[in-house]
Amino acid sequence: MLNWDEFHEDDNAVAEAPAVKAAPAPTTKPETPQEEARPEAVAESRGSYQVAEGDRLARARKSLEELDVAAGLEELEMGAARIEVDDKQMINARADLNQLVPFKYEWAWQKYLDGSANHWMPQEVNMNADIALWKSQEGLTADERRIVERSLGYFSTADSLVANNLVLALYRLITNPECRQYLLRQAFEEAIHTHAYQYCVESLSMDEGAVFNMYREVPSVAAKSAWSLKHTQSLARPDFNTGTPETDQELLRNLVAFYCVTEGIFFYCGFSQILSMGRRNKMTGVAEQFQYILRDESMHLNFGVDMINQIKIENPHLWTPEFQDEVTQMILEGTELEIAYARDTMPRGVLGMNAAIMEEYLHFICNRRLAQIGLKEQFLGAQNPFPWMSEIIDLRKEKNFFETRVTEYQVGGALSWD
Ligand SMILES: [Fe+2]
Ligand SMILES: [Fe+2]
Repeated sequence: MLNWDEFHEDDNAVAEAPAVKAAPAPTTKPETPQEEARPEAVAESRGSYQVAEGDRLARARKSLEELDVAAGLEELEMGAARIEVDDKQMINARADLNQLVPFKYEWAWQKYLDGSANHWMPQEVNMNADIALWKSQEGLTADERRIVERSLGYFSTADSLVANNLVLALYRLITNPECRQYLLRQAFEEAIHTHAYQYCVESLSMDEGAVFNMYREVPSVAAKSAWSLKHTQSLARPDFNTGTPETDQELLRNLVAFYCVTEGIFFYCGFSQILSMGRRNKMTGVAEQFQYILRDESMHLNFGVDMINQIKIENPHLWTPEFQDEVTQMILEGTELEIAYARDTMPRGVLGMNAAIMEEYLHFICNRRLAQIGLKEQFLGAQNPFPWMSEIIDLRKEKNFFETRVTEYQVGGALSWD
């Protein structure tokens, strides 16, 4: 095991004593007493000066082992065995994480490609009609304005919570390079989403302090944000690591909390309200931003579901009946919080919706989230009252949603307005 400095020192040592050459080590960390002893053995053969160097190397190696570095940040290991596909695992992998190929999880790489092909930026959306409508006295009803404000209030910070969870908690614990490649893409998309909300708030000249503080000032918004945040906090502790059934289950809780509940349930009341507004030709710029975001989010959700299911396949001992009950309860809890949000944002019927219809929709969504990770549906017979939402989410069935809108969008911000 060599770092860059030692690599140069080793060159000098070879010049002094060409007969001595360290054998390549087979694993990222020494696992046997023989390997532990190798630096001393090498040093002893070089004379007294090298004995001291051997001590230094041994001490450095020991301190590295004591240092709990994240997977992928280990010392560079000269001449180690090449990576085989079977060395790769979703969690607790010991394979070198700095090598993207050979791929094991094609679905992860494909999602990275698909996500990258859907690149867009918020400034590409024309907000002029929204600005005029928002400023006019009769443009929107009080209930419609409340929905716009609550949506921007929740989402403007929710995507930051998701991004922080990815970067500060989850990334280091997912020990697979192709999944990490998608996580990096997702993290950038979350930044674009937060940018989109900020762009809407700025375009409409809304009170940005009120919007960005809603997650700690309005109870129905705060309850959802606090629920998500507590799952980041458990994983972001500096001493947290996976490797035991308990900690591996804690990681799964985080994936369920963020992919299935936060991105898979908490986004759906607000998304359907704003998209329903767009279908009525109101706030079409905001609705278009939300439409793009929803398409990104549905891919995030599907990626999270794939990760959870792959971890289950590789670690079936984690998916105990008790743990399945616990995860089911988490998803039900999230559904209840979203129903409470629906009631708060729709005290009366608005935009062809009301809280009771939204509750039916959220029961339908909850069933889907449960089924996607192999759990039993909890609301038998729940129907989707908003089939148009499914059409928007399905990328391949994308149609002219707002009459003037695109059928496809591709890289380079090239939105086609035909
Ligand atoms: Fe997002
Ligand atoms: Fe997301």
